[in-house]
Amino acid sequence: MCGIMGYLGNQEARPILLQGLENLEYRGYDSTGLSILSETGEFQSVKSTGRLSALKSVLEKNKLSGNVGIGHTRWATHGQVTVENAHPHLDCNNSVAVVQNGIIENYRQIKENLQSRGHIFKSDTDSEVIPHLIEEVLDQGQSLESAVEFALTQVKGSVTLLVTQSKIDPKIVAARLGNAGGLVIGVEDNELFIASDIPALLPFSNNIMFLNPGEIAILSTDGIEFVDDQGRTIEKQVSTQLVNATEPDKGEYDWFMYKEIMEQPDVLLNVLRDRVGIDNFSLELPELSSITEQLPKINRVILMGCGTSYHAALVGKGFIESITKLPAQAEIASEFRYANQVIRDTDLVVALTQSGETADTLEAMEKAKQAGAVLIAITNVLDSQSTRIADASLHMRAGIEVGVASTKTFTASLLILYILSIYLGKNRSSVSEIELTEHIHDLEKLPEYIGNALNESPNIHLLAKDYANTQYFLFMARGLLFPIALEGALKLKEISYIHAEGHPAGEMKHGPIALIGPDVTTIALAPNVPNKEKTETTIEEIKTRNGVVLGVVTAGDSNLASRLDGCLFLPSVPVNLVPIVAAIPMQLFAYFIALEKGLDIDHPRNLAKSVTVE
Ligand code: AGP
Repeated sequence: MCGIMGYLGNQEARPILLQGLENLEYRGYDSTGLSILSETGEFQSVKSTGRLSALKSVLEKNKLSGNVGIGHTRWATHGQVTVENAHPHLDCNNSVAVVQNGIIENYRQIKENLQSRGHIFKSDTDSEVIPHLIEEVLDQGQSLESAVEFALTQVKGSVTLLVTQSKIDPKIVAARLGNAGGLVIGVEDNELFIASDIPALLPFSNNIMFLNPGEIAILSTDGIEFVDDQGRTIEKQVSTQLVNATEPDKGEYDWFMYKEIMEQPDVLLNVLRDRVGIDNFSLELPELSSITEQLPKINRVILMGCGTSYHAALVGKGFIESITKLPAQAEIASEFRYANQVIRDTDLVVALTQSGETADTLEAMEKAKQAGAVLIAITNVLDSQSTRIADASLHMRAGIEVGVASTKTFTASLLILYILSIYLGKNRSSVSEIELTEHIHDLEKLPEYIGNALNESPNIHLLAKDYANTQYFLFMARGLLFPIALEGALKLKEISYIHAEGHPAGEMKHGPIALIGPDVTTIALAPNVPNKEKTETTIEEIKTRNGVVLGVVTAGDSNLASRLDGCLFLPSVPVNLVPIVAAIPMQLFAYFIALEKGLDIDHPRNLAKSVTVE
């Protein structure tokens, strides 16, 4: 979703802004723009629809020069994808430029009021009300920061923004209202960088400061000052990010998604490292030390997330119930935030979010926190907003995931949930020492099992070639494989734009079986797990009606394989690990179908990596 980048220093702002925005491309966007202050303090702005490469072409003819600027990649919410609607937005006097991420819920009312006072709008966006609100305060002779503070009192919704002003000593004012994505500031001698996310700052600075909701930062040639929403000064410390200052690289792969799929054995090894002792059969989660004392009172676990993270929550519910032996429920965070849920201080709420910035998940977390629940975030981004809301956080350690379709962060989430279930079970004495040893034996082999599943990649590619023109896919499974069926359908629709649905196999004859016909291919997840024969019965029912059925089948199950139209084979693995390993053929199948269709796999249409608006 929208990416923000700002620079104030002594170098040319243009290449720095472009590089920062390029490193935010993974978030998803549909138009771009920059405003740079010239030596004489005038705004020079360039905007374009489409990718950053299009903006760069425009900049070839129009080389903006100056040491202060703001840039934006826009993911459209209000107003179509047009040059006029791209950010930055300026006021009537061209004295203020604004880039914004978020949604201003009451913008229509504000816009009407501003128009009645003579303001001229050039876009259909909600964001454009901000520069006009600021303009009115500046016209009264007040400072830029006072004007931003005032504008924020007028808007309802969640907003993250940068504002800069022409013809004054260079200044960028940054502000956050609610959860509409983060802002990170990189501090170097005589230079300040500010962006939506750390990857944008990696080439420039490792000295990082974070802006929290309700805070304002004033960046100037004198340095940086932070104030809260009451205008009181806040002291903040610089933290040094121990990150590799290189951009993610596709290496030998054509697409980040494929690279990220193939990285999963290493990612899962990383998840296990220091947490699971293979030699001494120990399992520790030191990241949870701050909440250990609260764990004995827990009598229910609520897991939540959006999209793929919700699917992980569904698997986590199964792990918690079967291993920890606690009642558990999985919730869609965008629903949970508004639902009349009973949340108690004896609940453990586990929020799953690879980005750590999903607006719906953050709001659902705030709700759980206010109700007094114990709150854990499972995230791939250390220092993301999710970790600041949660009482404790478990890091996915998956490395930056660039592909919009989540893959390695999904399996990392599942593995952490498995470890968490054992940890809680150990804590509550519902997991015995013998069971702990068995679980650790299984976990030790998981990276190897994932590697074996990945070895099927060439066969899955061949199958995908045959089915790339299929119009509808129907995924079905039972038990803990049902969330994997949902994830298989989501992966396929996200990157191939083919209609796909996931259903519990037992529900087929209650409705979805009516869909079976020549245009529909069913993918049945039927590896060796308890109740597999029930799924086989449903397969028979579909075959009887001349349906085409592909199966996710355990290697060596020639009996089932012979009755199917095609197979995606899995290695034979312990039952608890089947959902994690079965995610691999789902990801590979979706990837190869999209590859065959010649689509932009890493940047699927209409989608964003970091969904920072509601
Ligand atoms: C997954 O492929 C999607 N990109 C999407 O469903 C994603 O999982 C969802 O938006 C939640 O994101 P989060 O994990 O960063 O909170």
